[in-house]
Amino acid sequence: MKILIVGNGGREHAIAWKTAQNPKVEKIYCAPGNGGTALMDKCENIDIEQIESLADFAEENIVDLTIVGPEVPLVNGIVDYFKERDLKIFGPSKKAAALEGSKSFSKNFMKKYGVKTADYEVFYERDKALEYLEVCNYPIVIKADGLAAGKGVVICENYSQAEDTITKFMVEDIFGDAGKKVVIEEFLVGVEASILSITDGQVILPFVSSKDHKQIYDEDKGPNTGGMGAIAPNPYVTEEVMKDFNENILKPTLKGIKEENFDYKGIVFFGVIITKNGAYLLEYNVRMGDPETQAVLPLMDSNLIELIEASLNNELSSFDLKWKNSHSCCVVAVSKGYPGKYEKGFKINMPKEVHSFIAGGVFKGGNLLTNGGRVLCTYAVENNLEHSIKKAYEDMGKIDFHGMYFRKDIGKLRY
Ligand code: AMP
Ligand code: GLY
Repeated sequence: MKILIVGNGGREHAIAWKTAQNPKVEKIYCAPGNGGTALMDKCENIDIEQIESLADFAEENIVDLTIVGPEVPLVNGIVDYFKERDLKIFGPSKKAAALEGSKSFSKNFMKKYGVKTADYEVFYERDKALEYLEVCNYPIVIKADGLAAGKGVVICENYSQAEDTITKFMVEDIFGDAGKKVVIEEFLVGVEASILSITDGQVILPFVSSKDHKQIYDEDKGPNTGGMGAIAPNPYVTEEVMKDFNENILKPTLKGIKEENFDYKGIVFFGVIITKNGAYLLEYNVRMGDPETQAVLPLMDSNLIELIEASLNNELSSFDLKWKNSHSCCVVAVSKGYPGKYEKGFKINMPKEVHSFIAGGVFKGGNLLTNGGRVLCTYAVENNLEHSIKKAYEDMGKIDFHGMYFRKDIGKLRY
């Protein structure tokens, strides 16, 4: 088999690593890939990003299956386009991808099908939004409707902060059209969990749960990032929470997917918050999480390509999805200054035996160089959480690049 993986993050390196374990896979193309995929056996990076060019490439190179890592091409309709050209691709249609691409669409879907979620209102006009913000309870959450690279959600403590956010989103257009419409929603207090799953449109099979660490500094301080580390399973996702999640979030979601007739053979990522009143859905993503994938895939015993093929063939209901009875931890190292401005091009020193996935790293002139904010992660699978944390940090201790920074408390339980 020849596989094409779209994307260039740590998530895509992890997907390529898992894919390469399948003996049937002879070649993996990563578009555009990174320094990690550049150095993998069977793997070749190709410098293509446009949807049409990717389809041309898949056709010319007789690619058997395309797997899409990030949300942007999915929301832009890569799956519909590949299907029109009879190319096999894993992911939701454009219509279904709006579950991530538009917060108002997604909240309306949740409401229509009874998925438990925070109360909300949708606003198209600044004045109407401000009228509402004068009378609501604080803190309140303001979300840009469209994709904003993880920066479109602001928790406002008071009216003046809310007014400022509305001005940035709706008047200054800091996210372009993505902020012309906003969702304003009730602030929920609880512990977050990432529950990835796979669907064929008929069933949803949840993966082992995971926990992301979004803030840049220890003890969840400082601004949000793409994710500074993850553990799996998530210790807060008890059997009871899973039951609640199944009843109040997963089942109504599946009902909605069926009734809306979504062409959805892909990943459903449930961003859940566990409150004292049970689990609520904060958001859907229609792709795997980053860095959750780097913690979850190492725990998967089943063959990823077989799992994806089962989804594409409507056979998930009989697929025996198997997980290691272990724990995993991944710790992300970033460039100094991230999530703000940072420099790149520094040499990454890393011994061969270290278990890592590369994200913002490029292979150039025989060296691995930093090339992004989140540079790489180490990951470890062990028989308990503490051991996996210890091992991931031991490996991190063997890596070095100029300005390297990582959190010291990934996996530490604080509640
Ligand atoms: P989202 O992109 O909708 O998941 O939001 C990004 C992050 O904002 C979440 O992971 C939460 O940490 C936070 N967040 C979003 N919505 C809420 C809410 N209703 N209450 C509390 N925190 C929220
Ligand atoms: N780690 C969160 C995300 O991938 O959106």
